[in-house]
Amino acid sequence: MTPPQARRPIVAANWKMNTGPADGSELARAVAAQDLPFAQVDVVLCPPSTGITSVAAAVRDSPIAIGAQHVYWETDGAFTGEISVPMLSGLAAYVIAGHSERRQLFGETDDDVRRKTLAILAGGLTPIVAVGESLDQRDAGQTLGVLRSQVTHVFELLTPEETAASVVAYEPVWAIGTGRNATPQQAQEAIGWIRDTVAEAQGSTTADQVRIQYGGSVSPENCEELLSREGVDGALVGGASLDAAKFATIVRAAAP
Ligand code: PGA
Repeated sequence: MTPPQARRPIVAANWKMNTGPADGSELARAVAAQDLPFAQVDVVLCPPSTGITSVAAAVRDSPIAIGAQHVYWETDGAFTGEISVPMLSGLAAYVIAGHSERRQLFGETDDDVRRKTLAILAGGLTPIVAVGESLDQRDAGQTLGVLRSQVTHVFELLTPEETAASVVAYEPVWAIGTGRNATPQQAQEAIGWIRDTVAEAQGSTTADQVRIQYGGSVSPENCEELLSREGVDGALVGGASLDAAKFATIVRAAAP
């Protein structure tokens, strides 16, 4: 039996609603100037929509990929304020779907996340599907159930090929922007549950190919411990990604 192909770690910077076109490009150039293990790790920058064009131009000569933080699932039309997958063509390779801030602050539902994920894949881009439990849910012992329901909702409809090409980010809501990261053990356990759930929907060969990141207060201080855990295929980084040197430390920690 041939062993499953090793999954390539992926570290993505989620800049959230920070940086415009000029300072975003400057930050992107500062990241590109760091000593990064591009041969071993996929590196993605997700600027706000208005910065995508300039940041993509700033890193054109580097292996850094661009991601969008949000899209609408329709391709065009009367949807004021939204951007679509075709609008990202030639600019972005990834799109985050289901980030807990979108779920909590903007009412994004599991159905919305499913529609977005399907649209992202149909447009030839890679979704980074974010899932995670709230503190109340964790305290009530509901983490496994919450993750199963969020993951199944998206992955039951995908083809095995689409599933294998997707990225999942396990982001416990209580760890995002709080400075309180999940312990490496909690992260590894939850990521194992997510992979088992994908396997139930799509089979274990396919599930073995899906890259699953951890996100939530990842920092230069805790990244080694979190990212060296078996099954943790990289990180989705918020706050620390706004500092090129800190982000680079996290990327280096993801290299096998
Ligand atoms: P944080 O954000 O690293 O600031 O906790 C992570 C995220 O929201 O993706």
